Amino acid sequence: MNKNRRSFIKELSLGVGAVATLPLVSCKTTKEAVAVKDNKAAEAKGFTGRFNMCGYAAPKLETVRVGFVGIGDRGSGAVKRMSFIEGVEITAICDIRQAALDGAQKILSDAALPKAKEFIGSDTAFKEMCDSNLVDLVYIATPWEWHVPVAVAAMEGNKHAAVEVSTAKTMEECWQIVETSERTRKHCVILENCCYDFFEMLTLSMAQNGVFGDLIHGEGAYIHDLDYWLFNKPKDEKMSDGAYTKMWRMYENERMANVYPTHGLGPICQAMNVNRGDRLDYLTSIMSNDFTLEQRIKEKAKEDPFFEKFVGKKMRGNMDIQLIRTIKGRTIMIQHDVSSPRPYSRIHMLSGTKCFAQKWPKQHLAFGHHILDKEEFKDIEEKYTPEIIRRVGAMAKKVGGHGGMDFVMDWRLIDCLRNGLPVDMDVYDAAAWSCLTPLSEWSIANRSAPIDIPDFTRGGWKTNKPVDLSLSEGGTTGVRNINKANDKGQLGME
Ligand SMILES: NC(=O)c1ccc[n+]([C@@H]2O[C@H](COP(=O)([O-])OP(=O)(O)OC[C@H]3O[C@@H](n4cnc5c(N)ncnc54)[C@H](O)[C@@H]3O)[C@@H](O)[C@H]2O)c1
Repeated sequence: MNKNRRSFIKELSLGVGAVATLPLVSCKTTKEAVAVKDNKAAEAKGFTGRFNMCGYAAPKLETVRVGFVGIGDRGSGAVKRMSFIEGVEITAICDIRQAALDGAQKILSDAALPKAKEFIGSDTAFKEMCDSNLVDLVYIATPWEWHVPVAVAAMEGNKHAAVEVSTAKTMEECWQIVETSERTRKHCVILENCCYDFFEMLTLSMAQNGVFGDLIHGEGAYIHDLDYWLFNKPKDEKMSDGAYTKMWRMYENERMANVYPTHGLGPICQAMNVNRGDRLDYLTSIMSNDFTLEQRIKEKAKEDPFFEKFVGKKMRGNMDIQLIRTIKGRTIMIQHDVSSPRPYSRIHMLSGTKCFAQKWPKQHLAFGHHILDKEEFKDIEEKYTPEIIRRVGAMAKKVGGHGGMDFVMDWRLIDCLRNGLPVDMDVYDAAAWSCLTPLSEWSIANRSAPIDIPDFTRGGWKTNKPVDLSLSEGGTTGVRNINKANDKGQLGME
């Protein structure tokens, strides 16, 4: 673990009530990663739950003052998207690189918006932002090891947190966000943009309208050949250049786990009402050997000494798979592969008693053996496209962010906060979706033995309501400067 992060966490744990006595660790071993693996163990550790956040509606905020932490490739896109949303003031920005802050200020000045206050100077400069009275929402797009420390500091500072994926790396971190959110009554939203992609929104609406009948099985994935991103260093240390700052993601590949489970899992959980009538019960996981990374590292090390530190290290296998069963007897399969040369896929397959849907490799809907033709598909689309997409879908495509889904997500988050509505992806979703990382790590290390997935809601799932796509409340947030938007980004491949 990064030394500064370790001392910050120590400092943080001294000031946060029930968490104070916890040995907060990043994941050094599988055992540590799953140390708090069930509700009983969590209670023994002091995570006793003070207030159930299921369906929680925070007090309305007419204006949402947003502070960003981590303004690299992803964070700068978020600053830009938020600049189009009415009712948002971008008041603070934080990074460890001045170039990142300069880039964000330029986005603001180009949009004729006021300059934001800068927080920089150390790895923990975000703490000052979180303690200030400048922001209502802290939007976090740092490398993974900083997600939870920043989110906890935000909630402790009386701010909502919105955290990139995957939100938490260990079971301890999963419980920590739950405990902090419950105690502070601040949201900790997982920024799972894939839930807002157009086909995923359509299938969620179809599921909610009974088109699938009962959902039986779902499949999701993150299959994305990241060779370019993993092996190309930023050209200039001060810039991220589309590559990962300080190559942080390369280090994450030393972990034998699904380190990025939520893109595939999130939309399936929403369709199956996970944490809202059903919940994840247990999983088992398997991983292939590594057939490419070690070889690529050896090749790269010949031309760049940076890669020498990885030579001879055991790297994550190419493919890992999780099989999950829900309490209501549904099954889910999740795949993760970022190092094989193959086409992109999140699969997004839903199989019900009446209908079948799959997005990759070719988007289609079917009833029994009959695969819908273009016209039939269009009819379904017209009937079931949810209100949120009708309201902001076209604008989202203009503003962009993976073809628009990122903007739909941001707009919806702000609209919920401004109208005092429950958020679509709450702290329990953040924990339940992220915990696949430590739990898959444990299962892989134990010859695919099954392991329970904790009920982070502590019973709240039984009465919690499904995600509401109707906009029967809310939907009031407008957009600004939309004529300046001109997305040239890639379509739907995050
Ligand atoms: N949802 C998606 O589609 C999607 C896509 C890409 C990345 N992401 C997520 O976004 C996050 C960032 O990824 P990225 O590709 O932008 O990486 P990046 O390396 O380009 O950006 C990370 C930024 O965080 C800054 N940073 C590092 N430590 C910090 C600290 N202690 N305080 C403040 N700033 C700090 C870095 O300087 C950098 O500017 C990750 O969680 C990643 O998984 C999500």
